[in-house]
Amino acid sequence: MAEDLNIQTGTKQEQYEALIPQIEGLLSGEPNLISNLANITAALKEQFNWWWVGFYWVQENELVLAPFQGPVACTRIKKGRGVCGGAWEKGVTTIVDDVAKFPGHIACSSASKSEIVVPIYFNETIVGVLDVDSEFLSHFDEIDKQYLEKIVRLIPNS
Ligand code: SME
Repeated sequence: MAEDLNIQTGTKQEQYEALIPQIEGLLSGEPNLISNLANITAALKEQFNWWWVGFYWVQENELVLAPFQGPVACTRIKKGRGVCGGAWEKGVTTIVDDVAKFPGHIACSSASKSEIVVPIYFNETIVGVLDVDSEFLSHFDEIDKQYLEKIVRLIPNS
């Protein structure tokens, strides 16, 4: 497929709807996990220009920094720590409208104001999380939750 992303304008929903088939195209036939995670972060960054978007992957009972787009970030997060470790522990997508009010938030960047973290399941097990940070308050909502959950389900489980 063409390597250029077709950037969509319009509502957030329209942007996700246009992006998802392109992500499917990027992942199609490619089993390499790092390549696939890298391309998902690049596609999301290009479309939405979020402050930070990336993955943390479970290794030896910690979340370890994986492909991302944005400023440098902390490399390891323990279960239950911060928004990421909490989403991993609880197994549910977590939206934080104001990270300053989230007890235990791990501030990788002082510019980050709101955040969404989506756990990634391979079969019944959480293997990582998708983390998105915004420099704006209350930037993420149920639409992001719905579509980002759909996007992480596209990651080939092998
Ligand atoms: N803020 C996250 C840490 C990861 S960075 O945002 C990239 C947290 O509290 O888990």
